Amino acid sequence: MKLVATTIQGLEEVLAQELVDLGARQVFVQKRAVEFEGDKRLLYRACYELRTAIRVLLPIEHFRVRHESALYSKIKKIDWSQYMNVNQTLAVDGVTNSKYFNHSKYVALKTKDAIVDQFREKFGHRPDVSVIAPTLRINVHINEDQCSVALDASGDSLHRRGYRRETLEAPISEVLAAGMVLLSGWKGNIPLIDPMCGSGTILIEGAMIARRIPPQKYRSAKFGFQNWRDFDAELWNEIKTTADNKIIDAKVPILGFDKDFKAVRVSERNIMVAEQEESITVARQKFEKLERPSQKGVILMNPPYEERLKTGEIEELYQMIGDQFKHEFSGYTAWIISSNMGALKKIGLRASRRFTLFNGPLLCKFHKFELYEGSKKNAH
Ligand SMILES: C[S@@+](CC[C@H](N)C(=O)[O-])C[C@H]1O[C@@H](n2cnc3c(N)ncnc32)[C@H](O)[C@@H]1O
Repeated sequence: MKLVATTIQGLEEVLAQELVDLGARQVFVQKRAVEFEGDKRLLYRACYELRTAIRVLLPIEHFRVRHESALYSKIKKIDWSQYMNVNQTLAVDGVTNSKYFNHSKYVALKTKDAIVDQFREKFGHRPDVSVIAPTLRINVHINEDQCSVALDASGDSLHRRGYRRETLEAPISEVLAAGMVLLSGWKGNIPLIDPMCGSGTILIEGAMIARRIPPQKYRSAKFGFQNWRDFDAELWNEIKTTADNKIIDAKVPILGFDKDFKAVRVSERNIMVAEQEESITVARQKFEKLERPSQKGVILMNPPYEERLKTGEIEELYQMIGDQFKHEFSGYTAWIISSNMGALKKIGLRASRRFTLFNGPLLCKFHKFELYEGSKKNAH
């Protein structure tokens, strides 16, 4: 089968590597997506085990289209009774990047109309739409005049891992947090520290990577493929059991800090839901007061970018981060993500690696700093 996994812009290569590790063939990187080939086993594994995928799609039709009426008639030509029956429910997600179709919601609406009209004409009544838990989720992607229609094997988006019950402002997506940990190359052999942990996403994704816990282990929602006609429950159980049997214990401390008491409380709750209390410890502490908790370690952090801070304050914050890196954390490696390029410069260290990532709509830099012991050559 030809399959597609979608992701955040900037994580395509990481996702491609995850797919190669799962045994996918013909892996091709696209913008915000990776195409690959595999069988049903790989499809189920992709949904359960990929950390940087948002959706896993099975394309069923591809055609050229420039007008909404043509979209309607081409969608209607597909025999939808192969995939669902009239008493089941559907949802359509539209994605457009086209001068012919400006509104993705409209594309979704036209597609849904074509499908329900087909059922009405054939059976005298139509299936209902369900946004929350549809039987069949359909994805329509239009790039200029190229339209791709796919069944969504993931169902509910894969960033919803099921452990994040509470968030504070500006939480990072679980997919982005996992991507940052994978890009950093941290494998769980030296301590991991997030000194501005917010709701704890980086810590939890880190613990799950170190312990090889499948990212969807705590998901309660069904996957899309579980509603498909060809669903193989035995194969699915085998895949889940095999992946769950690979879980190992944490080898090193994973530590989170935040100056905000509420952040510590929210992190602790999320950590509890993810059953990671044994692996992760969080405490209330300002980064400016934090003393190195171990001889060596990796810092991964997502500080505020600037929202609601007064002019000048954000530069001071990043300058303080740089000072702490230099004076308290020599011997460490630090990774920081931010959309504020001016503030990033205030860290006053030269990055040894730089990636571009998107945090929602925000273009961000993800920088690595090697904090050599007593080294000044690193500083500007
Ligand atoms: C963008 S949020 C982090 C979000 C987090 N990655 C998540 O997924 O929820 C930034 C966090 O930095 C914390 N923070 C800001 N200044 C700090 C400081 N000086 N010391 C420690 N924490 C700080 C804030 O309280 C906030 O929780």
